[in-house]
Amino acid sequence: MYVIEKFYKECEDIVKKVVKKTEKKIKFEIPPREIDADLSLPCFTLSNNPNELAKKIEKQKLSKNSLIGSIDADGPYINFSINRDVFPSLALKEILNKKEKYGSRPKNNKKILIDFSSPNIAKPMSVGHLRSTIIGKSLYNIFEFLGYECIGDNHLGDWGTQFGKLICAYKRWGNMTELKNNPIRYLNNLYVKFHEKAKTNPKLNDEAKLYFKKLENGEKNIVELWKLFSKLSMEDFQKIYDMFDIKFDLKLGESFYYKKAKDMVKTLLDSKIALLSDDAIIIPLANLPPLLIQKSDETTLYATRDLAAIDYRNKKFKPEKILYVVGSDQSLYFKQLFSAAKLLGYPENFVHVNFGMVLLEKKMSTRSGRVVFLEDLINKSIKIARRIVEEKNPKLMKKDEISQQIGLGAIIFNDLKQDRIKDIRFDWKKMLSFEGDSCPYIQYAYVRALSILKKAKTIKYKKPKFKTKKEIELMKKLSEFPTVIEKSAEQYKPHFIAQYLLEVATEFNEFYSSERVLGSEREKERLLLVYAVSIILKNGLNLLNIKTPNEM
Ligand code: ARG
Repeated sequence: MYVIEKFYKECEDIVKKVVKKTEKKIKFEIPPREIDADLSLPCFTLSNNPNELAKKIEKQKLSKNSLIGSIDADGPYINFSINRDVFPSLALKEILNKKEKYGSRPKNNKKILIDFSSPNIAKPMSVGHLRSTIIGKSLYNIFEFLGYECIGDNHLGDWGTQFGKLICAYKRWGNMTELKNNPIRYLNNLYVKFHEKAKTNPKLNDEAKLYFKKLENGEKNIVELWKLFSKLSMEDFQKIYDMFDIKFDLKLGESFYYKKAKDMVKTLLDSKIALLSDDAIIIPLANLPPLLIQKSDETTLYATRDLAAIDYRNKKFKPEKILYVVGSDQSLYFKQLFSAAKLLGYPENFVHVNFGMVLLEKKMSTRSGRVVFLEDLINKSIKIARRIVEEKNPKLMKKDEISQQIGLGAIIFNDLKQDRIKDIRFDWKKMLSFEGDSCPYIQYAYVRALSILKKAKTIKYKKPKFKTKKEIELMKKLSEFPTVIEKSAEQYKPHFIAQYLLEVATEFNEFYSSERVLGSEREKERLLLVYAVSIILKNGLNLLNIKTPNEM
């Protein structure tokens, strides 16, 4: 348990002593800023006379070493404050002892499978897939930090009737040299061409179906072609993964499940969960539209392969949770999928970690059809970062590396700084600003902390005593880090960490501009505080998969 949690626990114990046997939940709140307290409890639901109860709790005795400094009744509320003589130095000690492990938890032998990124081959990775990659990776880091064994699985969209169309288009109009020159753009164009031509020549669709059948039947030269498309696509995706340092434990695309999906259809029919409807097979669901699992031409679908994946994942890993990091546009689909899985008797361990859209300026989405090429987007961010760095600090060494860290960090942070269910925009100016709620702002606070530490000759740890209000407030803020991580994990929402880091950076900047550190008579304590700030900022950014430059 971390110091902050011990403090919460002490508060709870005190309340329990007074309230004794109560069925009602004791629900603490973090008081609003204007209230000078660290934890409060509204007593309304605990007693018919909440004011009296608050008074009673207020009278409880505290020991000298208690983490609680004071208890104050305020009408029906009871406010607890930390013990300023004890809490800050204990919290500091904890941070400095654990350093990069601060906020982590011991291994818990539980597994979490995270289905993330999951782009579709033969198409460019979309901004939506980038969001999934960014959110998924952050959740991966967070859960790993909290002691879980994470299994990151890239559920590639590499199977389905669209590959019949693509193969058909390639067979008719394709050319190997052009394909190898610029695979994704080329394949994407072929796919577009197929749809255009099919409008006037519906026979093409039948031809495409035939090709897909051949693929499913394992016809050699068709399978070879499909493998080539997959390989070229993966190479393209890999460029993005390399930039963001993303690794997967598994890359079991939909193709991995296609035979299992056929077996799944059989199981579903045998158990009468699915039934024949016209020539197709569906799973009727209570309060939801039925889920189609086999088309009249006997091909399986995305959903069928997802059901097979649920079977495989549960049997193979017995995960505590399976997270699907996929946009909100698939919300209905996941409701259907999960209720079908329930009918099949799988554990209810699935979570749709949904997220909003990326709203792009027109300018960005026009180039070469309607698709945005992620690489262009990312390179743009790095380029702007480079320009800013050049301007702010022309003498900086390693400009390339640092612009990368800033440019990529800006993209990640822009995604994670607000609740994932909201849509995001690319506002380059805001994203890359050194002031305001941006990544460079936090990275810069970190660099500033480092530079103070560098200037100091020695940092001594010897029974530090925190005295001033600002010192204590900052220390208290830092101590909250472990609880913020927990909250992010509970709700699968990294933005709690992102917002917290902004607050820490702001409080640190305020502290630094009003309180002298070097040369002050409180230098020893303040340097330790700065050191602790640097640890928290680094750990937090790490969890979001953002790098911390040493200079900017
Ligand atoms: N490839 C899919 C798409 O781009 C996302 C797959 C998400 N994962 C899953 N198990 N359905 O829409």
